[in-house]
Amino acid sequence: MKRILLLLALLIFTISCGDVEKKSNKNDDLNNEVHRTWWKEAVIYQIYPRSFKDTDGDGIGDLKGIIEKLDYIESLGVNMVWLNPIYSSPNADNGYDISNYREIMDEFGTMEDFDLMLREMHKRDIKFVMDVVVNHSSDEHRWFQESRKSRDNPYRDYYHWWPAEKGKPNYRYSLFDPKGEAWKYDSITDAYYLHYFSQKQPDLNWENPKVRQEVYDIMKFWAEKGVDGFRLDAFQFVSKDTSFPPLPEGYEKEVIKYYGMGPNLHKYLKELNKEVLSQYDVFAVSEGAGSTFEDAHSLVDADRNELQMAYHFEGMDVGNSLDGYKLSEFKEVYTKWDSAFAEKGWLSIFLANHDVPRMVSKFGNDSPEFRKASSKMLNTFILSMRGTPYCYYGDELGMTNIGFENIEQYQDIVAKNGYEKTLNEGGDISEYMARLKFLSRDNGRTPMQWNDSEHAGFTDGTPWLPVNDNYKTVNVEAEEKDPNSCLNYFRKMVDLRMNYPVLVYGDYKLLFPDHKQVYAYTRELEGQKMLVLLNFSEQTANLELPDNLTLNKPLINNLEELVQEGSQIELQAYQAVIFDLK
Ligand code: GLC
Repeated sequence: MKRILLLLALLIFTISCGDVEKKSNKNDDLNNEVHRTWWKEAVIYQIYPRSFKDTDGDGIGDLKGIIEKLDYIESLGVNMVWLNPIYSSPNADNGYDISNYREIMDEFGTMEDFDLMLREMHKRDIKFVMDVVVNHSSDEHRWFQESRKSRDNPYRDYYHWWPAEKGKPNYRYSLFDPKGEAWKYDSITDAYYLHYFSQKQPDLNWENPKVRQEVYDIMKFWAEKGVDGFRLDAFQFVSKDTSFPPLPEGYEKEVIKYYGMGPNLHKYLKELNKEVLSQYDVFAVSEGAGSTFEDAHSLVDADRNELQMAYHFEGMDVGNSLDGYKLSEFKEVYTKWDSAFAEKGWLSIFLANHDVPRMVSKFGNDSPEFRKASSKMLNTFILSMRGTPYCYYGDELGMTNIGFENIEQYQDIVAKNGYEKTLNEGGDISEYMARLKFLSRDNGRTPMQWNDSEHAGFTDGTPWLPVNDNYKTVNVEAEEKDPNSCLNYFRKMVDLRMNYPVLVYGDYKLLFPDHKQVYAYTRELEGQKMLVLLNFSEQTANLELPDNLTLNKPLINNLEELVQEGSQIELQAYQAVIFDLK
């Protein structure tokens, strides 16, 4: 499990660019000292469509449900929405196994629903990011069905095949396979095909120019419809060393180096940028940032004209231990990534998504006493750092891990296959279950909690994944009424972010690096300076501010009181405060 999570966390990156003049990013202000752009100023709300709102009673969220909730989304103040994949899919991996890239998944609705959703978003000045999953397709995609028919099928080279007469291919680890093998033997043509993820997700062969053209055409199809951005799933894996040499000892520590970030990645990125990204006013964000800062820069530095944004996993990985994490490590990771990107390139900032547990359960404290304060504090962090914030649905309410006990309760392919693998290998199943309870992807996928009616108002049917028991108190309707709720605090914090460019573009400087409880930093831009103080602990924390910092009144405070005397500040458990500095 550890390995699976490590590998998952190490995943992916992506695209754009070209040697042609860029037409995208029309709002760029290149004369400004900081390179200002709409996608840097955005606050993105990520929706797991399966779990947001069901309107037809099948227990699965749908596009009509998202349309119904657009006023709510607008009320958050966010101005961009990213949806996990909504294409036709047999759902081996909840939509990350696509069988038709130009169709909407039946459970989610129709293309008409999509068009309406996009129009309604744009009416509200909300932009839309499409998830693009092209490292692999579903094995039920027509390309693969053809490809496996015969060795001379025109689609054969759309995938990576290894003829059995050459012997068994060199071992590759599969992230999602119960046996851990990424090569699957197929008797029809007496050959193995490659699947870095599950057997139902064969890897596409990007060496084949036809495959690349198919991808560009698909992206153009969606760009023509008016989508504003692309999130490139597992993209750093698309370029591989296709001689598939034996893996050296210790390869696990550098998975990306041996599995992805291959020799042709930048060639593909430039091509994709030229063909698609430069032709529309869109941005692309890559899942993953390679394994070094150099890799990350090679993907997103503006002068390379490849991708616009990436996300690294190092910050999120800090919280992967069941014994908690050290704030010093958390600060170190975020500070080092910020300084590496201070001059060039752009990253995302997030503490949760559909592949990890709930933010407050992992990085905060989900006990009844501290849930509210700590989730507000974490949202203060995300929304006051440099980088585009990605806020995961339900985190604005302080939704928590569901913490299943039995394997039968899990729906996620990673959880189920990992269980089987642990059994097959005679591993410690109780340790596996304990890790799963905390780290499982299903923790972050439970239905959105709208109100205190049955199934939290998510569905009239039976939800595909149970609703968290705390929905009676943690829900939108209840939080709307409470001025001190997580929800209302989130709105204030988004508003602050939107109104103060210093929070988007300002220089970041870490203060009190050795403080064990407090993460403190300043942001500074063109004469404006802010101080962010975050108590990451359940104990009171004391700080003496340096003489050169003179505080104005706090711009935001997640608790009602603030204990301050001159330069002495006493932060309560999980208190978060942002000051404007004189
Ligand atoms: C990415 C997605 C994850 C998916 C995997 C395979 O990591 O975020 O949910 O399972 O790619 O497509």
